[in-house]
Amino acid sequence: MSSPSNQPRQLEGRVALVTGAGGGIGKGIAQVLAERGAAVCVVDIDAGAAEETSTELQKTGAQAVALEADVTDESSIAQAVRSAISEFGHIDICVPNAGVIATGGFEEREHHTAADWAVTSDVNVFGTVTTIDAVADHMKQRRSGSIVVISSQGGRAPRGASLSPGPPIFPYLVSKAAEIQLTHHLAIELGQYNINVNAVCPGTVWTPMWERIAGNRKSTDGSAADASPRELFEQVLAAKHPLSREQTPIDIGKAVAFLASDDAAQITGQALNVNGGAVLN
Ligand SMILES: NC(=O)c1ccc[n+]([C@@H]2O[C@H](COP(=O)([O-])OP(=O)(O)OC[C@H]3O[C@@H](n4cnc5c(N)ncnc54)[C@H](O)[C@@H]3O)[C@@H](O)[C@H]2O)c1
Repeated sequence: MSSPSNQPRQLEGRVALVTGAGGGIGKGIAQVLAERGAAVCVVDIDAGAAEETSTELQKTGAQAVALEADVTDESSIAQAVRSAISEFGHIDICVPNAGVIATGGFEEREHHTAADWAVTSDVNVFGTVTTIDAVADHMKQRRSGSIVVISSQGGRAPRGASLSPGPPIFPYLVSKAAEIQLTHHLAIELGQYNINVNAVCPGTVWTPMWERIAGNRKSTDGSAADASPRELFEQVLAAKHPLSREQTPIDIGKAVAFLASDDAAQITGQALNVNGGAVLN
């Protein structure tokens, strides 16, 4: 069900830049976009991870390049965009996906810290802004482009108290809501240049980020102390998701591929849940 294969190569000839594509959801997005025919620029702060994803894509016959960049550093991401254009000639699809849940020590904390607010704002919000800023002039000149921001279902309206994640995650949730608001504003601003801007809101995806969330729950919730991180993940799936199964990085990639394709040419300013029905707004 989650395989990217046997899909039409609807993105043939397009070039995509995906941040945070060294692992987790970003890697799944890169795999689907490559499978659909796009050349992929794999951007990550972790150069080795970016190289690994890029090499894996190349082994499937796809065109890919690894680019080390820190999205919180405007000159770093601008340089990655220049390298991408020099490698493939242009960029059609931009996916600001790189994100963080909190600073170090999050797994043991019952409350958020000033450093959590700073890092989630810096990477998740400002890093999305720097990435889009770095490609926007290029897309405007070409009067063409698709931007797909990776936000979160956590950026939508909170669920009831018993189902909501606790205070340590508040800075992250607020940063993800900001990304949705940014998507709305940019859709209005960039529409006149034939650039569509949408967001995908993943639900519950087993990645290193989710392992940290489970780690936090294990140490701060006595009833969770004996469960493994994966068991806690599965409990959340069973409790909150009408479809009762996990979303994978490939599932998220498929939604991104749709929003970046001609099939979504009339869709802009939207935030699409890919969350098994866990949040319905
Ligand atoms: N995992 C989930 O359940 C879930 C749910 C909703 C939304 N999301 C969102 O999906 C995106 C990816 O999450 P994930 O679970 O794959 O996380 P992850 O921690 O597994 O991967 C994040 C990737 O981003 C990279 N990165 C971190 N900081 C960076 C920086 N400053 N510059 C460049 N790259 C950087 C990391 O090296 C890593 O490869 C995030 O925006 C996250 O908020 C995840």
